[in-house]
Amino acid sequence: MVTANPSAPRLAPGPRGTFLLGSLLDLRRDLIGFLGQVSAEYGDIVRFTVAGFTVHLITHPDHLRHVLQVNSKNYDKQSHEYRPLKLAFGAGLFTNDGDSWLRQRRLMQPAFHRQRILKLGEFIVADVVERIARWESYAERGESLDVAAEMVNLSMNVATKSLFSTGLRGDGEVTAIARSLDTVINYCLYRTMVPFAPPPKVPTRRNREFTTAMAELDGIIYRIMGERRAQDEQPYDLLSMLLEARDEDTGEGMSDRQVRDEIATLLLGGYETTSNQLSWAWYELSRNPEIEARLHEELDRVLGDRLPTVADVPQLEYTNRVLEETLRLYPVPWLERRAAGADTLGGYHVKAGSLIYISPYLTHRHPDFWEDPERFDPDRFTPERSADRPRFAYFPFGGGPRLCIGNRLAQLEAQLTLATIAQRYRLRMVPGHPVEPKMQVTTSPRYGLRMTLEPRRPSA
Ligand code: HEM
Repeated sequence: MVTANPSAPRLAPGPRGTFLLGSLLDLRRDLIGFLGQVSAEYGDIVRFTVAGFTVHLITHPDHLRHVLQVNSKNYDKQSHEYRPLKLAFGAGLFTNDGDSWLRQRRLMQPAFHRQRILKLGEFIVADVVERIARWESYAERGESLDVAAEMVNLSMNVATKSLFSTGLRGDGEVTAIARSLDTVINYCLYRTMVPFAPPPKVPTRRNREFTTAMAELDGIIYRIMGERRAQDEQPYDLLSMLLEARDEDTGEGMSDRQVRDEIATLLLGGYETTSNQLSWAWYELSRNPEIEARLHEELDRVLGDRLPTVADVPQLEYTNRVLEETLRLYPVPWLERRAAGADTLGGYHVKAGSLIYISPYLTHRHPDFWEDPERFDPDRFTPERSADRPRFAYFPFGGGPRLCIGNRLAQLEAQLTLATIAQRYRLRMVPGHPVEPKMQVTTSPRYGLRMTLEPRRPSA
């Protein structure tokens, strides 16, 4: 009879998967569906393999705190998911690691200082008002528009304004950046899921599409960098800070390639997540008229007919709760880390080199921390109801040293945009329009959001 060795490390439970591939096919079929199913079956730490890699899925806030904060030094981004992203974003902040990441983060942090972000408030509101001016004719004709595409345009403009001050050459370049980033991300995800895909230099259809999208993106970024270098007066924006940054010890500046990687990273981080958050907020408001009525009541009470400013944001408490609840239900679906050294998590052994899957989507629905988790209920975020909730039960911006650098900008942008538009319009889904979350790096509405607009009060 074989008896268990009491000194052997305890391994977390999980599905066995198939020979060699492990759970790869299940993951490829429906990543979040599979992760949800195994966490419901095996609990807060689930161990499985994917094409020879050991993976631990963790969903409990205590374990998330350990990996993202307490022992974050042991958990890097040398992982399966992030490697393909490096093809497009190189050593940008999101994909970088170790000393190089720390140096870049320190260098860029001042650009996201609270006071600087608040200064962008006025621009955000003015831009929203300008961009939705043409909505009036849609409202008059009762014609629908794709609100998800509108939110992409709005967010991309805010992202480029904070990065480059002057913005881009019209909507054509905004669309070109959004389109090329979309192609690039799809390509990177494809390489994550198909580890033996032909190397990028082999001229397959996918590889050619990727190369073309990268050339389009880089063309715009390098043109802006070149123009800025030729200028005598540098505006006080993020691009100038990147171009002027010097290493304290060596006095060396960033290479053009490093500046390019940071800009591409910020463009991606800066528009997709925010535009998705706003799109899903419109969708949920259209389905929940009582919540929408409370939002309108707050906006009318605090703002009346005047435009919102950054000074109003602390009073727009319900508006903020609507946005927090939106990010609870529609967050970044999953993040990944690699355990550089062996560790113990929740009493289970994690061997060096294991991958750690983290899913804000699943933790934000964890039944121990969220009652009736699928229900859209902004009041979950009242101070009373949030008081006993652990920090990592809700972490839409990540946590620990790698907390999202743009989280303040994102929150301000979402608050001011939602307030400015909801003051003027009630948005309604076109009946029968299919709505389905597409979960990739972020969660977007797969078929856009066809909505009609009902004016609430005369536009400003
Ligand atoms: C609703 C909006 C946003 C959401 C939900 C979001 C979410 C996140 C999350 C979850 C992370 C952590 C990733 C990890 O730990 O692996 C992250 C990191 C990051 N985000 Fe955001 N983000 C948002 C907006 C923004 C904006 C507006 C910017 C820039 C302008 C930005 C730039 C970044 C960067 C550069 C990182 C990497 C930081 C580092 O590792 O040092 N994000 N974001």
